[in-house]
Amino acid sequence: MNELKVRRGMTHMFSLVLVICTMVISASTDFKALKCPPSPAQCQYDVSVFDEHFYFVEDLKFVIVYRGTYLSFKCPEGVGFESESMPRFSSAVRVQLLVLTHCAVPAASFASALAALNVTVLDKLILREPRGDLRSFHMTGLGVSALEVRAKERVALEEEALGQLGALAELWLVGVALPEAALLRLPASLLYLHIESCNMTEFATPALRRLSSLVHLRLYERTLTVAPDLSAVPSLRSVSFIAPLNGLPSSNTVKNLTSQNCNSLEILGECGALSRLEVSGAGGAPGAGWLARCPALAELVLSDTRVDALPADLVRAAPRLRRLAVRGCRLRHLPPDLLAHTRDLQELDFSNNRLETLPEQLLVSVRALRSLELSNNRLTLAGARAALAPTSLHRLVLDGNPLGDLCQAGSDALYPDGLIERVSGVSALFEMRALRTLSLARTALTRLCADWRRDMRALARLDLRHNNISALQVHARPRAQTPTHPAPTRPHAPPRPPTLTLT
Ligand SMILES: *[C@@H]1O[C@H](CO)[C@@H](O)[C@H](O)[C@H]1NC(C)=O
Ligand SMILES: *[C@@H]1O[C@H](CO)[C@@H](O)[C@H](O)[C@H]1NC(C)=O
Ligand SMILES: *[C@@H]1O[C@H](CO)[C@@H](O)[C@H](O)[C@H]1NC(C)=O
Ligand SMILES: *[C@@H]1O[C@H](CO)[C@@H](O)[C@H](O)[C@H]1NC(C)=O
Repeated sequence: MNELKVRRGMTHMFSLVLVICTMVISASTDFKALKCPPSPAQCQYDVSVFDEHFYFVEDLKFVIVYRGTYLSFKCPEGVGFESESMPRFSSAVRVQLLVLTHCAVPAASFASALAALNVTVLDKLILREPRGDLRSFHMTGLGVSALEVRAKERVALEEEALGQLGALAELWLVGVALPEAALLRLPASLLYLHIESCNMTEFATPALRRLSSLVHLRLYERTLTVAPDLSAVPSLRSVSFIAPLNGLPSSNTVKNLTSQNCNSLEILGECGALSRLEVSGAGGAPGAGWLARCPALAELVLSDTRVDALPADLVRAAPRLRRLAVRGCRLRHLPPDLLAHTRDLQELDFSNNRLETLPEQLLVSVRALRSLELSNNRLTLAGARAALAPTSLHRLVLDGNPLGDLCQAGSDALYPDGLIERVSGVSALFEMRALRTLSLARTALTRLCADWRRDMRALARLDLRHNNISALQVHARPRAQTPTHPAPTRPHAPPRPPTLTLT
């Protein structure tokens, strides 16, 4: 309650300071870099707040943001920035990035309309919700290497529109009507192309073939069902699709393939160079031999796709695999020899499935495993045994599994005083001494095992949220050294382990 009051007070004070500052700034007649042209221009400077400057031009409110190499004009809905009354820079200004928001496209080129304001844009032009179609003459004299057009209302790209941009390396088109003829005339200099919500139904091979420098391609199109033939672009390295495609488009140069919502997992084209494959929300499940032609695979992520059973040979042909994730796929069982050939595996993630038991043999061949993620399955302690073996693990996450007490694995010890006690000397995790992160939230844990603190010398983070823990500190009674030991003594105080964060 008190804290709330203090915060409110501070907010008021902050507003007050802001008002005072604003009054001081607005007392000057102009923001010094930008000046209203002299009468009869109808331009009035209003106020500045930090780097935002407000002007009335012909009674319409413009917001101009100017910060070093960044300039942005927010036009009143559908109005252009070409008026004779627009404020302009009194000396030539070169900016890296120019953003025009809601502005009508100019009557002549962007470059000349900007030159009238003493502005040259060097690197990137962003047209946010532009009003009007983009034509070839608009781009005359524009030397940018990146162009981004994000439309909400209908904006069409005239077929020759981008032909003038001979040095364009990066192009983003979002919500722009793209006639096939315009696709056929995209600048051949492009290295990066992002097309989204443009109602594309096809990326025809002749259009692709033209893009002889393209390295990255992203197509986010709900209407695109036919996979493009990527072998037409030998420079391609990285592709990303959000589209109901009839397969996963690949080629013998593609290294990085990301796909969402494809209708089939079939790999279309070569995949000999493929090193990273990430698929989510796919319509089909992987079958036997799926990745048999992709031997360079180092990372495989499959998520939010219904997979009743993983094929046993899923990664058999990928000896260099370092990361495998199959998340949110409703998996109930894993093939016992799934990982028999992936000796370099470092990260494994089977979270958010329905696993009750891990095959005993699952992790025997993986010697370098660093991170194991099994959260939100149905693993009991017995079912999770196989996960508790790899001694190389740095990170183990078992949140949301009904594990119960993990301390019971210790051996019985007989004390000279006749007490038989299950010594909490070793827990179910006793082999995992290299752990740095151990996460056991929502696992029905009831106590902390003594050896976690004593033997896991690198443990720095232990997550025990949402458990009912009654014993926070467990003092182990020492194991009797010899039968004639007089009485149990406290163990030697171990050297201090690193600071442990409990969350
Ligand atoms: C543009 O800047 C130059 C100096 O760099 C200056 O002489 C000229 O008047 C400016 N133009 C406008 C329209 O303010
Ligand atoms: C794409 O199609 C939808 C529905 O037909 C339409 O509302 C939208 O304006 C179209 N977008 C473009 C960029 O043509
Ligand atoms: C692969 O592509 C994805 C999606 O475009 C990107 O997030 C990721 O950084 C890329 N990875 C590499 C190694 O290029
Ligand atoms: C913890 O114990 C309390 C009281 O016995 C019970 O109401 C609660 O549901 C338990 N919480 C969990 C996460 O088991």
